[in-house]
Amino acid sequence: MVKQKKRILTGDRPTGKLHLGHYVGSMKNRVALQDSYDCYFIIADLHTLTTKPEKQYVDQLDENIYNVVLDYLAVGIDPDKSVIFLQSAIPEEYELTLIFGDLVSLPRLSRLPSIKDMARAANINDEIVPFGLIGYPVLQAADILLPRAHLVPVGKDNEAHVEITREIARRFNRLYEKEVFPLPEVMIGEVPTLIGTDGQAKMSKSLGNAILLSDDKKTVEQRVRSMYTDPNRVRADIPGRVDGNPVFIYHDAFNPDVDEVNDLKERYRTGNVGDVEVKRKLSRAINRFLEPIRERRAAFASKPGMVEEILIEGTRRMQAEAEETMGRVYEAMGMSGPRLRKVIQGRAESFRLLGGR
Ligand code: TRP
Repeated sequence: MVKQKKRILTGDRPTGKLHLGHYVGSMKNRVALQDSYDCYFIIADLHTLTTKPEKQYVDQLDENIYNVVLDYLAVGIDPDKSVIFLQSAIPEEYELTLIFGDLVSLPRLSRLPSIKDMARAANINDEIVPFGLIGYPVLQAADILLPRAHLVPVGKDNEAHVEITREIARRFNRLYEKEVFPLPEVMIGEVPTLIGTDGQAKMSKSLGNAILLSDDKKTVEQRVRSMYTDPNRVRADIPGRVDGNPVFIYHDAFNPDVDEVNDLKERYRTGNVGDVEVKRKLSRAINRFLEPIRERRAAFASKPGMVEEILIEGTRRMQAEAEETMGRVYEAMGMSGPRLRKVIQGRAESFRLLGGR
């Protein structure tokens, strides 16, 4: 018997182009795990509505969805191996979210720092936090459990959401006495939260401290040149701080030449290298890292309709999985509505409420 591969589900909200922080936080793991797992990558457009339901933002979704899919393909997610799908195209997402909302308490959700952070970032104060934003992790649990995933590679800020997903899965299995769902594990990337070029906050496109996976060579050089380093080091002959210094965090993450990095660190600590050299070598390393990504992006982007074709095929594959899972869910629960639905759709013959099925 062939051993069934375990499954991964992870993904992103389509809020714009992805950056280096996304790469080290999660993308790198995803690409590496494509062969050993069946991978499902979700473009979570319904999640963007939790903080940005306004028409002006909805109008931007298509372009953002396109860019995220293209970023995925550019970093090396292979559509022949992995499924890339659009959340809002799957009706079972909405269904399972509603069922799951009954399996977790409001205080448990309301206490999460991640929700508070998202509310703050979107200028939503406590009194007007939408039901849907409190329910963000419930929708995410539906994402993860619809393909019955075992593993979720995400950034550190999503760790608590996977924990809630486990609680919901455990609760469901226990209440309905059936192991419908695995208890998914979280996997955090090697650089859980990458600091931004400003050295102040985590990398984020909206804060303007990001280097995008789609930035060109010149832009990268410019971003690196203006990066925050050790503020006390006003001259090259002053010993500098390496620990926690963004330029060295990036060197560690993106410069594969360990000897070069160690040499720079040594000379930085002893006041024997200028910021200019450290930065020049950093932008060279980042550009080398981005070069194959740029080539793949250009190849996919040059074929009109290609991105859409990949999204159609991926969503089709996810749809089949979603139906299988919801079949198991309603079967375990013993709900009649879904059987009734089959009858009115002409997919089943009889419907009885009393006197057995
Ligand atoms: N919450 C993730 C983010 O911060 C996006 C996301 C939505 C997700 N659904 C998911 C991640 C399911 C992992 C699994 O952007």
